Amino acid sequence: MYFLPEDLDDYIVAHSDAEPELLQQLTRETYQKILQPIMLSGPYQGRVLSMISKLKQPKSILELGTFTGYATLCLAEGLQKDGEIHTVDINEELVDFQRKYFDKSAYGNQIFQHLGNALDIIPKLEKNFDLIFIDADKPNYVNYFHLIIDKLNPGGIILSDNVLWHGKVVEPLDAKDASTKAVLEYNTLLKEDPRIETVVLPIRDGLTISRKK
Ligand SMILES: C[S@@+](CC[C@H](N)C(=O)[O-])C[C@H]1O[C@@H](n2cnc3c(N)ncnc32)[C@H](O)[C@@H]1O
Repeated sequence: MYFLPEDLDDYIVAHSDAEPELLQQLTRETYQKILQPIMLSGPYQGRVLSMISKLKQPKSILELGTFTGYATLCLAEGLQKDGEIHTVDINEELVDFQRKYFDKSAYGNQIFQHLGNALDIIPKLEKNFDLIFIDADKPNYVNYFHLIIDKLNPGGIILSDNVLWHGKVVEPLDAKDASTKAVLEYNTLLKEDPRIETVVLPIRDGLTISRKK
């Protein structure tokens, strides 16, 4: 987590469910072998994703930005028995790593990997979703929203990660900073789009939960 004093962070983690052993292994191997391990959702946000998914009990989930599969496995914990999670990533070097951990989990046959640019993959997915986690490249968040909103079932949830962008959303904007600009635009879109209701949660780097009316 980023915004609370460290002792409060520690207290919150200590009084939330522990990270499952498989996710601890996945985290260790990600730190040993994969560049930018900081992109992992991590133990606390992972438990939040798992809890939201369990409350929603989705039949179908879409994740944009798989990385090493940490959040995929957290979200899968809430799937209905015959449910599916489709997860998209552009980096082909991650595919075998992801599959190894998906197959070690209880959800291996419910997880479908899609390799490529999410902008190209989403229109090809002939499915609707109950829960969508947006966690890929920030400059495309607005584009992702427009591509997925008609594929989200009524009552469905969009979770958007990194919406506080290390606090930069409240700092003076550097005109060359495309990611902050994109996050600001995205946050305004979520607040103003009449098809959804939205709350920003100050979890880790900011996690917005939006519900389709
Ligand atoms: C922050 S990481 C995802 C972390 C993961 N959801 C988790 O919680 O552990 C972002 C991922 O998005 C992927 N990505 C970036 N641009 C993309 C694009 N245009 N289409 C699909 N994936 C993309 C990157 O390869 C990276 O693995």
